[in-house]
Amino acid sequence: MTSQIAQWHDEHGNFSLLLSFLEDQVARFRDGESPDYHLMLEIASYLREFGDSFHHPREDAAFTILAAQDPRLRLAINRLHQDHRVLAAAGEELVARLNQVISQTYVRRASVEAAAALYLAYYRHHLAAEERQILPHARLLLTAQDWEVVARAAPSCPDPLFGNTSTGIYPRLAGMMAAYAAAGG
Ligand SMILES: [Fe+2]
Ligand SMILES: [Fe+2]
Repeated sequence: MTSQIAQWHDEHGNFSLLLSFLEDQVARFRDGESPDYHLMLEIASYLREFGDSFHHPREDAAFTILAAQDPRLRLAINRLHQDHRVLAAAGEELVARLNQVISQTYVRRASVEAAAALYLAYYRHHLAAEERQILPHARLLLTAQDWEVVARAAPSCPDPLFGNTSTGIYPRLAGMMAAYAAAGG
């Protein structure tokens, strides 16, 4: 149970790091520079692949158990369930815009900037809400049996970016993180 909470929290740390990389690229729009669209696509794709398919389904299962155990959490939990749906749609939109710009289909720079900035702000707010409103309660309330239900909500999958086995699916991100670690990050 402790390890599952620790893993949950660590995944939020990983996502936050990726969002800080995304923020650097969003700043380039503001400064009139050229963003690295391929890097942005890797970030959004990872968050969709791992976040939407594995992290969020487990959270949804934990939220449902917590809401049944403590009705005072229901309002916050309903918002977080909704956030998952909104983040999936916003992530899909961002990936679509980035694929358009990379394939040199005409797309307004402002629409790519808006999709990225909205995704960034929404995701940050979501992570902060979970850390503040949910994880402390999950640590206290969820039993070993509950954690088994949570684990079964999504198939076990090695993290394709932060896991022990490098998959090579996200080459730009892997390089960024190696540089970040070398700089003492
Ligand atoms: Fe979440
Ligand atoms: Fe989360």
